[in-house]
Amino acid sequence: IAHTPQDSAEVATSNLPAMPHRPRRLRRTEGLRRLVREHHLTTADLIYPVFVMAGEEQKEAIPSMPGCYRYTLDLLLEEVTAAYDLGIPGIALFPLISPDLKDNAGTESYNPKGLVPQAVRAIKQALPNLLVFTDVALDPYSSAGHDGIVENGEILNDQTVAVLVQQALCHAEAGADFVSPSDMMDGRVGAIRRALDAAGWINVGILTYSAKYASAYYGPFRDALDSAPQFGDKKTYQMDPANAQEALKEVDLDIAEGADIVMVKPALAYMDIIQRVKRHTTLPVAAYNVSGEYAMVKAAAQQGWIDERAVVMETLTSLKRAGADVILTYFAKDVASLLRR
Ligand code: PBG
Repeated sequence: IAHTPQDSAEVATSNLPAMPHRPRRLRRTEGLRRLVREHHLTTADLIYPVFVMAGEEQKEAIPSMPGCYRYTLDLLLEEVTAAYDLGIPGIALFPLISPDLKDNAGTESYNPKGLVPQAVRAIKQALPNLLVFTDVALDPYSSAGHDGIVENGEILNDQTVAVLVQQALCHAEAGADFVSPSDMMDGRVGAIRRALDAAGWINVGILTYSAKYASAYYGPFRDALDSAPQFGDKKTYQMDPANAQEALKEVDLDIAEGADIVMVKPALAYMDIIQRVKRHTTLPVAAYNVSGEYAMVKAAAQQGWIDERAVVMETLTSLKRAGADVILTYFAKDVASLLRR
């Protein structure tokens, strides 16, 4: 039915109160909605986490992360080239380390000929403008599946930091643009910054997992890397999900120690933390839309219970609204393709 002034007159005679504001007026058409839209998800916001394994011409499906694979380096190059061609600015690299290379001190983590340095070199050679973020932590290399050296069931802090420093230097030497400590040891950002500077790597940045919670949402990632803790849990180093103020303490320390970008992880259950951190700092804030968040969407979509694309766009846009400047997500390529249309 056409809306004529006649209709309006009838509305005016109904017993609705006077309404100087009708918010629906700004939602009337797609053009209008675009005009007044407050937050925008763009491909430029995305970092694509990828898994690399040794070998050639193979990719292995990760059952709990449908659509994600562990790639041998040759195939990984194709995958990250596709991401780069879609306009994704960066990738985060995670290695699957064979069990015989794992030990308590994570020695393989700073082998200059190891999987990660090899991959970084190859990627930077092929795609010099794709940003490479390397994960700094011992868990993929640790026989105990922990992010630090274990002694009598405890995770040693300062001894672990010494290894993390070696790992960060090894990644910088290979050509990483950023190192990303995800281990939650105390003081590691400062120790890494000092070592990078002393070695002349003043332009290698630190994207630090500042507020990283001891979360059940990391399950599928640990399947991907075969890195689940062999005993206990990660609660003596990762944060208690019940804490919010403590996130700001961690952020303050990381900033004082020289972090360039601070991250909150996981993302969805911690949107309040993202917002608090964003209000608290002038640094760019990253959010990690983790493996469990990805798996839940995939599982429900496979059942036909939700519209995957719509849910992904809604979720990631909501992370921007919460205050995330940068989003790590396994959906990065899907989102970039959708945004391109
Ligand atoms: C390990 C690390 C984890 C993730 C990134 N780096 C797992 C963990 O702390 O156990 C999780 C990423 C994800 O779940 O997608 N240092």
